Amino acid sequence: MTDPAPETPADPVSAWRRLAGAAVLLDGFHALKHAVRFGAGIRLALTADRAGALALADELAGDVRDTLAELLIEVPHETYAALVPRPHPTAVAALAVRPSRADNLQELARTPRTAPVVVLDDPRNLGNAGAVIRLAAGFGATGVVTTGTLDPWHPTVVRGGAGLHFATAVERLTVEELPPGPVFALDPEGEDIRSLKLPDDALLAFGSERSGLSAELRARADHLVALPMRPQVSSYNLATSVAMTLYHWSATGGAPHAS
Ligand SMILES: C[S@@+](CC[C@H](N)C(=O)[O-])C[C@H]1O[C@@H](n2cnc3c(N)ncnc32)[C@H](O)[C@@H]1O
Repeated sequence: MTDPAPETPADPVSAWRRLAGAAVLLDGFHALKHAVRFGAGIRLALTADRAGALALADELAGDVRDTLAELLIEVPHETYAALVPRPHPTAVAALAVRPSRADNLQELARTPRTAPVVVLDDPRNLGNAGAVIRLAAGFGATGVVTTGTLDPWHPTVVRGGAGLHFATAVERLTVEELPPGPVFALDPEGEDIRSLKLPDDALLAFGSERSGLSAELRARADHLVALPMRPQVSSYNLATSVAMTLYHWSATGGAPHAS
């Protein structure tokens, strides 16, 4: 589906208020930079410091500098600060089109899969979910699926993901709706990950911060996999567990593309 063109309105404040309800807020220069790099449809991009933002682009993001120069509209600092929940040091904010659920489901279901899908089973912490989406983007994972009530597109998750929701397919599904593929569920009681090669079509599933893997997810699991951990330590943090597992996948053959 073609995204609507960005707006260059005479009244950016009214345009922002009109679009904000249905759009994804990109908070800060880096989130906008990542979103543009990964093809997000940007509806409106504002800054209280256009020269500063373009200087950052010259320094850090030459590949998208011209696009950012076309998109960014300067507004007074008070105007910018009134539109965002918490002003960002770069004084940049943008509204992007959320990718359609149908497109994400198609991406998640496509086979043969060349990189795993990360499944967070009933995660509770918005910061963990954002960090996991950033990891999944970095490792070129096919997507991040959450089960349970947490919205993986919640503004706090998007902030934690640094604009990288657009680099991987992010959706909430039930356990029954999970895409096809062998489920490798991470659990300290499982088989040592160092003795395994994780296949590219795997669903890598992680339990909730509070209670670990649900009975439903365990029932769907083909393998239980443990990360090395000294006795007397109960568990690792959710996002660090995802980091170690994706690293293991990449180090045993499923490396992310360098370019
Ligand atoms: C913070 S832990 C959950 C702790 C929870 N209190 C429990 O009872 O399992 C979140 C998730 O990270 C993964 N995890 C943490 N440490 C792990 C380890 N040593 N081996 C495998 N998975 C681990 C598991 O998927 C776990 O469900």
